[in-house]
Amino acid sequence: MPVVAILPLWAFLYAGTMTKPPSKTLTLVEAGAEVYGAAGCAGCHGAGGGGGVGPALAKGAVIATYPNPVDQVRWIILGSAGGGELYAKAGKNSKGGMPAFGKTLTLDQIVEVVLHERQTIAGQKPEADAEGWADLRKLPEEFPDLGYTKAQVDLILEEISAQEGVTIPEGE
Ligand code: HEC
Repeated sequence: MPVVAILPLWAFLYAGTMTKPPSKTLTLVEAGAEVYGAAGCAGCHGAGGGGGVGPALAKGAVIATYPNPVDQVRWIILGSAGGGELYAKAGKNSKGGMPAFGKTLTLDQIVEVVLHERQTIAGQKPEADAEGWADLRKLPEEFPDLGYTKAQVDLILEEISAQEGVTIPEGE
């Protein structure tokens, strides 16, 4: 009797561990929505970007702070502790409280979450950011400690232009 009772459970667990669910390929923006929840951004900025502990990102607020998407990438890498100058450049007075994500998120994840914040939350059109994204090529040199590579950046830029149908200008 016990064997009969246990077998179906075992079979279920086996199936659960051995067969991976078919992996759906997410777009960059969709992946960014997952990062936004998983990294805790939603906890401080609100699931829809309406604000909370952190400022609102919705209704174009984050575009007004960072006209260039790469400045937003830099800010998320640095957080309040390292990004004060960047925040001042945006005309904002840093009060602290934004964690630095440079060591906990990959560059890909940061770009994804920036795309989610700008396009899904703030309603930015992809073509409006295309030129600005070219600055991503500066990051490997700007953040040598984080190990970003030119190849990684080129791949990200290729994905953005392919998925969003935009042309990102070539570097110098
Ligand atoms: C612990 C709370 C907290 C978490 C988690 C958090 N933030 Fe923030 N965020 C803040 C605070 C507070 C500020 C304002 C910082 C300041 O005044 O120095 C801010 C500012 C920002 C800004 C600038 C917005 C503007 O217009 O001023 C962006 C963009 C941003 N956060 C994105 C993110 C992203 C992306 C994540 C997740 C990867 C994240 N934040 C996670 C608290 C948080």
